[in-house]
Amino acid sequence: MTASLPILSVKNLTTRLQIGNSIWTIVDHLNFDLYRGKTLALVGESGCGKSMTALSLMRILPSPPALPIEGEVLYQGRNLLSINEKEMRAIRGAKISMIFQDPMGALNPVFTIGSQLIEVAELHLKIYGEAALARAIEALDQVGIPHPEKRINDYPHQLSGGLKQRVMIAMALMCEPDILIADEPTTALDVTIQAQVLDLMRRLQREKGMAILLITHDMGVVADMADDVIVMYMAQGIEKGEIFEIFDHRAHPYTMGLFNSRPSIQTNKGKLKSIKGTVPSFNQIPSGCRFHPRCPFVMPKCRTGAVPDFNIDSSPTHLAKCWLYDQTEESRLSWELNKDTN
Ligand SMILES: Nc1ncnc2c1ncn2[C@@H]1O[C@H](COP(=O)(O)OP(=O)(O)O)[C@@H](O)[C@H]1O
Ligand code: SF4
Ligand SMILES: [Mg+2]
Repeated sequence: MTASLPILSVKNLTTRLQIGNSIWTIVDHLNFDLYRGKTLALVGESGCGKSMTALSLMRILPSPPALPIEGEVLYQGRNLLSINEKEMRAIRGAKISMIFQDPMGALNPVFTIGSQLIEVAELHLKIYGEAALARAIEALDQVGIPHPEKRINDYPHQLSGGLKQRVMIAMALMCEPDILIADEPTTALDVTIQAQVLDLMRRLQREKGMAILLITHDMGVVADMADDVIVMYMAQGIEKGEIFEIFDHRAHPYTMGLFNSRPSIQTNKGKLKSIKGTVPSFNQIPSGCRFHPRCPFVMPKCRTGAVPDFNIDSSPTHLAKCWLYDQTEESRLSWELNKDTN
């Protein structure tokens, strides 16, 4: 882990939805840091709260049902959750950009891609006319779109899926943001285009030094791209660490299931493996450790009370929310006493 200061520090991020008469906590006291030039992969099964985390950081949650976000998102000494919307607009798209799984969600079908890129240049870079046009063409060129001076007049529907994704990346990167949030950016693409888009993100990260929060369920992508990993289960971060820590010693039983193949970065090319049992619904969150109904190592104390984060292998960067790593005398005794009955 870098010794430098994080560019973005997320502390106790908590997002709740008002669903009928009940309140669902879909991001629950999440903590992580992003560093310049580094990629943090956020992984976990569908529905665990990954996209909601991204939308919370950008402050673009659908409301309703979302309630006010709690916690802190510290960027350049300010908590982005407490600044006003006007201040946030100056940061969103300029300092922190996002690319979505579905580019059509970000591109407007009724305008040419040129006019959409020019609008970003005008809004955030304050450049106009010929200069804005030149910047838009340059942005398309940077993401490897052939003949950008012609392509700029195309409408989104005239482009293939891969090109649309590139345009969205061009748009997200036009202002050279400090932070790029990429929510499953390659899931909708075929394998060849996927590799090109990932290469592009890596190249631009090298050149510009931006921090990337990469949301993915593809372990091959994690292995290729990530410096650090955070694993989410039912709204909580349940394990995090540097990529080698996670691949070499998956500590949390959920992570073990998720990465259910050889613990090698080189060979781990598969998708997330399915784990026995189903994810409970957010209106029936299990007591104690949320994973306990599915966990092969469950102990009596797992069934009640919150589980603390424990350091793994004495590493300050590798944490798991699991009682198996409680090193206290009392805990070891209880494990010995109970191991035959579980
Ligand atoms: N508009 C919504 N209304 C109700 N529930 C929602 C809405 N959006 C998301 N959710 C719930 O929030 C949870 C987290 O969703 P999401 O962040 O999209 O998951 P992920 O990206 O990890 O697949 C899901 O379980 C989903 O049921
Ligand atoms: S706390 Fe208990 S139930 Fe939860 S993952 Fe660890 S061993 Fe399994
Ligand atoms: Mg999602």
